[in-house]
Amino acid sequence: MCGIVGYLGPNPAFPILIEGLKRLEYRGYDSAGIATLEDGGALRVEKKQGKVVELTNHIGEHHPQGTVGIGHTRWATHGPPSDVNSHPHCGAQGRIALIHNGIIENYEALKELLTHRGHKLVSDTDTEVLAHLIEEVQLRSGLDLPDAVRVALKEVVGAYAIVVLDREHPDRLIAARKSSPLVIGVGEGREFYVGSDATPIVAHTKNVIYLDDEEVATMHRNGDLKIRTIGDVAVTPEIHAIELEMASLEKGGYDHFMLKEIYEQPRSIRDSIRGRVQLQSGDVHMSGIAEYWDVWNSAQRILILGCGTSWHAGLVAEYLFESLARIPVEVEYASEFRYRKPIVRDSDVVIAISQSGETADTLAAIRLAKDQGAHVFGVCNVVGSSIARETHAGAYTHAGPEIGVASTKAFTAQVAVLTAMAIHLGRKLGHLDDRTHMRLLTELDNIPDLVKRVLDKAEATEAIAREFATADNALYLGRGYQFPVALEGALKLKEISYIHAEGYPAAEMKHGPIALIDENMPVIFIATHDEVYDKVVSNIQEVKARGGRILAIVTEGDTHARKLADHVLEVPRCHEALAPLLTVLPMQLLSYHIALLRGCNVDQPRNLAKSVTGEGRNPVNLGWFSTPCVWDVENVVSLHLANGAFLAPRKP
Ligand code: F6R
Repeated sequence: MCGIVGYLGPNPAFPILIEGLKRLEYRGYDSAGIATLEDGGALRVEKKQGKVVELTNHIGEHHPQGTVGIGHTRWATHGPPSDVNSHPHCGAQGRIALIHNGIIENYEALKELLTHRGHKLVSDTDTEVLAHLIEEVQLRSGLDLPDAVRVALKEVVGAYAIVVLDREHPDRLIAARKSSPLVIGVGEGREFYVGSDATPIVAHTKNVIYLDDEEVATMHRNGDLKIRTIGDVAVTPEIHAIELEMASLEKGGYDHFMLKEIYEQPRSIRDSIRGRVQLQSGDVHMSGIAEYWDVWNSAQRILILGCGTSWHAGLVAEYLFESLARIPVEVEYASEFRYRKPIVRDSDVVIAISQSGETADTLAAIRLAKDQGAHVFGVCNVVGSSIARETHAGAYTHAGPEIGVASTKAFTAQVAVLTAMAIHLGRKLGHLDDRTHMRLLTELDNIPDLVKRVLDKAEATEAIAREFATADNALYLGRGYQFPVALEGALKLKEISYIHAEGYPAAEMKHGPIALIDENMPVIFIATHDEVYDKVVSNIQEVKARGGRILAIVTEGDTHARKLADHVLEVPRCHEALAPLLTVLPMQLLSYHIALLRGCNVDQPRNLAKSVTGEGRNPVNLGWFSTPCVWDVENVVSLHLANGAFLAPRKP
């Protein structure tokens, strides 16, 4: 369950679907399939476990015909990757073919009901259940397909973005969504494209309609588009222009998206602080904070929620907010927060961090915090995403599309935005004197240049990677601001190279992990010049004494740590609060090179997908849309253009 593409128009559907599937492959990729309605009304379904190329090899020269079709790349949730579990799935009579993103939570109950009625399901998927259900409703009720889809979806609990092809109606394509994004592209000359995000659409048209939850769209070959809610209320379609450029979806001369995104960081960090950090006036402009200043001013605690890399950015923010703004901070995995009975007070400010803005755990945690009266501020990358829509206010990170599954530039953009926020709050709350405040602002403004310097001098990383590439385990150690960076370094390594790696606060090593150290254990220390530098050097000595192989990430000009380490990688000197933006870079590159040397698929690591929109990892939405569909457009346009903030529409 992952990527969706659909086409209805005057042109052959097959090349459009295959090209769309290739663009969507980054999101999920254990199988792919297409269905087209061929001339004469035959429904042709082709699907194959593996990459899109396996599908095209399987199809060979005998390309499917027809000018309407649907395509899907799957990331397995219900049932393992296999030809039979791949989408599209057909109903019992083979009249409809359907592709689906999301999870049908009550599929067991629906399956039992259908089996009772004589349906024979051949796959393990929840999607096939949905295809049978829709066809069953259609055949039994005699309803037209769009109505049958609406009625069937009323029975469904869970998340879905679906596109349905009807053998009896080659002039129509039906699409519907709930909690899983779906975009309709409106092309020139009566043609429609459908995508789970804009990537398969943007090459053809920039005019899109974002379907909203519980909406069913019927596209017709004559150019008509009708949208009705599941409750049968007509909706007027609104067309938006996407700003997304094709270049941002391509590798731009790099071998991998991950490498491109690592090298984009001077630009992405600059974009994340542009308009916010104002050196001349010595201010930070954050409309999302200014609009709710009373809330921030009286906040007793900041609760930070996120998952994975975004959670690591939250941990960096804990150090930032506590040290610079003196506000108590707790950082929680959104996935844990949502299921324990957290104590949230209306004097809490919650910061929810997410690249995609669609992570299900983070969304659920936001809803819980809001229900308990907290003010929720979002930090996310995808404009118009669910998190941007459901938070009270927030700040976009402006990192641009992140295609590599391993998050790199999104992390640094998040940390840059959070750093600007902490400096701003520190100043406004009276905890930063003029000198420190200006020093921090100036250094933050200069950080993109330092990032470039680190990346320009990174050639040594590849040689070090060669030495570490055969390891089975690795330890990442740091203290203070660098502890979360150690966690992030370990996550980057494990997710793309499959080497078991752990991050620890360096001082915790002697409480257990030191038992692991021997000559086979690479230990990556972050030993930059900061308040805990001497202590980290002592920790390096402890590892050295036990034969560990040490890579130290040090400040330029360092002498102590360098003497103890087998290898060093340098970063420029800066204020310790800003150093995470530099020290994470060699770690990203190290993981990249190690993964390459081990023959791993860097951009598409096994078992992973880009965005986790369900309890399982069913990746969806990376929209990068310029104009969100649900927000108050005036707010969004003015604030977004001014400084990348977002504010939820105020209820009258
Ligand atoms: C790791 C990674 C994941 C995400 C996590 C949260 O490289 O990408 O750990 O950080 O799934 O995703 P978002 O930030 O989209 O909420």
